[in-house]
Amino acid sequence: MNDRFYKANKNEVELFKQAAEQRLPVMLTGPTGCGKTRLIEHMGEVLGRHVITISCHDDLTSADLVGRFMVTGGDVIWSDGPLTRAVKEGAICYMDEVVEARHDSLAVLHSLTDHRRTLYLDRADDVIQAPDTFMLVCSYNPAYRSSLKELKPSFRQRFVTVAMNFLQPEQEIEVLVSEANISESIAKRLVKCATAIRDADDVFHFEPPSTRALVTAAKMIAVGASELEAAEVAILAPLSNDGAVTDGLSEIAAACLAHTE
Ligand SMILES: Nc1ncnc2c1ncn2[C@@H]1O[C@H](COP(=O)(O)OP(=O)(O)OP(=O)(O)O)[C@@H](O)[C@H]1O
Ligand SMILES: [Mg+2]
Repeated sequence: MNDRFYKANKNEVELFKQAAEQRLPVMLTGPTGCGKTRLIEHMGEVLGRHVITISCHDDLTSADLVGRFMVTGGDVIWSDGPLTRAVKEGAICYMDEVVEARHDSLAVLHSLTDHRRTLYLDRADDVIQAPDTFMLVCSYNPAYRSSLKELKPSFRQRFVTVAMNFLQPEQEIEVLVSEANISESIAKRLVKCATAIRDADDVFHFEPPSTRALVTAAKMIAVGASELEAAEVAILAPLSNDGAVTDGLSEIAAACLAHTE
């Protein structure tokens, strides 16, 4: 099985390549488990570039990104942060859940994401010009965004933004077969189940079941769980703790997983 198998949804692979060719930063948005991280891993392979990942959180400082002076054995030496390493190496720097980072921490990215493509290391008194292969890619899930956590327009408008969503059913079936080695007919039923729940999204107010959840269910089935058990633990239970909702979901799952073929 190919770890980095990526099934293109629409034109995102081409858009990513075009942005890379023009040395433009890319922002991926979309629901959890729809393939954002997988796309970046895949593009790292396609473009032959190393991917350096930074998981963003609200304690992340600009020093965590660019680096800091450290005392080692009585000497004070500069230690590059992951962003600086990615710039020096000409790698893809992937900032996951970028909306979690504070605005002041992200300010250091401004000069890297416009025509200057330059990283200013004020504390180390250094200026680094990014090589052509350096690329900044960020991602976040707009559904998690609270009013307190908005990216600034001056940040957002620097990026080529690709809004991702779940694959079409035939594509998602292919992913499940490839990722978990299950039969196409089982994959079809799992996808039918997810699609029914996603379509009932207006009734249930929660994040829809992800491709990741379906892959997890498929993996459980591959080692002996029944389809209903797998749907319960991998798709339904992670969606809601509300008993009434869970009952409704179980009914949908039971109807979709009934072997009708
Ligand atoms: N287009 C795709 N091609 C192949 N596998 C996919 C695709 N989309 C989703 N998957 C499967 O779903 C899993 C989750 O995808 P991924 O980790 O890329 O989601 P994500 O969008 O980064 O989610 P999160 O926002 O939670 O980080 C992958 O490990 C893979 O098994
Ligand atoms: Mg991800």
